[in-house]
Amino acid sequence: MDSFFITTPIYYVNAKPHLGHAYTTILADSMNRFHKLLGDETFFLTGTDEHGDKIVQAAEKGGQTPREYVDEISSLFSDLWPGLQIENDDFIRTTEERHIKCVQEVLQKVYDKGDIYFGEYGGHYCFGCERFYTEKELTDGKCPQHETVPEYIAEKNYFFKMSKYQDWLIGHINANPDFIRPERYRNEVLSLLKSGALEDLCISRPKSRLEWGIELPFDRDFVTYVWFDALINYITALEYPDGEKFKKYWPAANHLVAKDILKPHAVFWPTMLKAAEIEPYQNLNVHGYWLIKDTKMSKSLGNVVSPLEMADKYGVNAFRYFLLREMVFGNDSSFSEEALVGRLNADLANDLGNLYSRTLSMTHKYFGGIVPAPGEEGEEDCDIKNVGRKAMADFQNNFMEAKFSRGLEGLWELVRGLNKYIDTTQPWALYKEEKMSRLGTVMYVLLENMRKIAVHLWPVMPEASESMFEQLGIKFSPEKINLQGEIDVWGLLEHGTAVASKSNLFPRVEVEKKDTAPKKKEAKPSKKKSKEKKTEIPGVIEFPDFQKVDMRVGTILSVVKHPDADKLLLIKVDTGEDEPRQVVAGLAEFFKPEELEGRQVVVVVNLAPRKLRGEVSQGMILAVRNGKEMQLLTATAPVDNGCKVS
Ligand code: MSP
Repeated sequence: MDSFFITTPIYYVNAKPHLGHAYTTILADSMNRFHKLLGDETFFLTGTDEHGDKIVQAAEKGGQTPREYVDEISSLFSDLWPGLQIENDDFIRTTEERHIKCVQEVLQKVYDKGDIYFGEYGGHYCFGCERFYTEKELTDGKCPQHETVPEYIAEKNYFFKMSKYQDWLIGHINANPDFIRPERYRNEVLSLLKSGALEDLCISRPKSRLEWGIELPFDRDFVTYVWFDALINYITALEYPDGEKFKKYWPAANHLVAKDILKPHAVFWPTMLKAAEIEPYQNLNVHGYWLIKDTKMSKSLGNVVSPLEMADKYGVNAFRYFLLREMVFGNDSSFSEEALVGRLNADLANDLGNLYSRTLSMTHKYFGGIVPAPGEEGEEDCDIKNVGRKAMADFQNNFMEAKFSRGLEGLWELVRGLNKYIDTTQPWALYKEEKMSRLGTVMYVLLENMRKIAVHLWPVMPEASESMFEQLGIKFSPEKINLQGEIDVWGLLEHGTAVASKSNLFPRVEVEKKDTAPKKKEAKPSKKKSKEKKTEIPGVIEFPDFQKVDMRVGTILSVVKHPDADKLLLIKVDTGEDEPRQVVAGLAEFFKPEELEGRQVVVVVNLAPRKLRGEVSQGMILAVRNGKEMQLLTATAPVDNGCKVS
């Protein structure tokens, strides 16, 4: 059994948790669950970083002592995680006794070894970053992160001989291509290391300037620099040096951070570990920023996204899926509610939700809700099973390499493939023709593949995945899953199992247009205008009247001539629902049946059904007549069946 240790940054308690913190922590949770399904022994750590100038300043601002302040904000983080279905094994706070002890132990070890010395230093200190900058690192004399002019401070302090380990670190990164990933950040670190001599790291602050920190064990007049303190949390939680957890989970550590804290994790931390004679961690996984309309999130711009608000509004699982699917790991990504709703409707409601609801309701209609025994398999069954194998392997390989978005994209090949499989195998026709053995195979292929999809989605959408299992009549227990084995194994869903009759996993949502971009001063709408009386103009309808018409895109599956009317065709259209709709349309004089099959059309789906010469018509296909010709309305590029026209 392999060990897997995943960490998030420990978050500063100078601000409330937002989308960025939620993303890293949700991702860590997903990686942790993924490794659980692989059968690894896992440990997932998150927490809060509570020392340093920033915290003291924030506490003072609110008229609180640092202790009162850190207790309050730290619990905002620890209380948030369960609501996002995040299950961390430990929550560490740097003000805890266990951590203070561990930091002092590491400091003493490095000091005794001769890698810490006392010296004088003058530098440009940024309070936002809590670090000194060299002239070279400043942009126009300003801190590149905060764009503020740092303060020049000269004082006596303790220094860690980081420069001594520069060559070792370059060698280690070169020998371990996965040490820092994705590659762009590895290259960034290598070029930083090769561009000049690494400086020694100032690791103390005189108590005369800052008291809120961990005392140096060898000089009580100083406290530890917040980064030297914070990074050690990763081993405190494992009970370094003698704890069982340390033996089990170190060095199998995977750190997850955003690019803002690349240098401390890629340079300070491995050199600190080397000096303390501890093996380096296994991987540093670095992601980009979530932006709001291409701008950084910030309190002053008023564009900070609250993760809980999003989860409450759209569902935790949809929110988690969106974050992992939308951001290409390593790159920046823009967050908007429109994009979230787009994914929710397309990937979750249309593709996945529809697959579940159509298949379950067909299982009820054709087999009384019982998983049928499959008959002989044909070519199209083998084809879809191959699609499945490839999709699951893609998902797993990409997740292994921290390419989450690609992994989900890979899995969706199966989700979409199964929807197409329904369209081509046409279970409703098999039922009509009483081909029950063939129908049994088709339904079994669908249901077993749906089980496999549910397994793979547990790391991303835990609750939704568990509901999928429940709907398939199976009790889910992660420890019974063999994720790698799922790629090739077939037939774990037992025939005879009773499945749910309905599924409404991801209801579609419509987004109200709301601007999450930085607030600009907007003219208040005049009261006069909003009270304006609506005047009715003949022939003009109000917007709500237009909204009543539900138009969807659908694909024509089959067309036959109406038995009793020359001008009418009976057209079966897949509009993304459980079963295709039959539309009776007056198109016979313009199109031959084969010219229509496979075309995407726009269908009014909420017209009351009516009979046309004895055949029921469930909707209307939109078309334009131009003289003797008729043109069908369609989208300019293929879209998913069921997409709403608006
Ligand atoms: N306390 C340090 C970390 C010490 S780790 C030993 C710190 N804290 S922080 O509160 O500023 O958190 C930074 C981290 O929050 C980022 O690395 C990232 O994980 C997450 N994010 C904060 N804003 C973010 C975005 N806008 N987008 C993505 N992630 C972001 O640095």
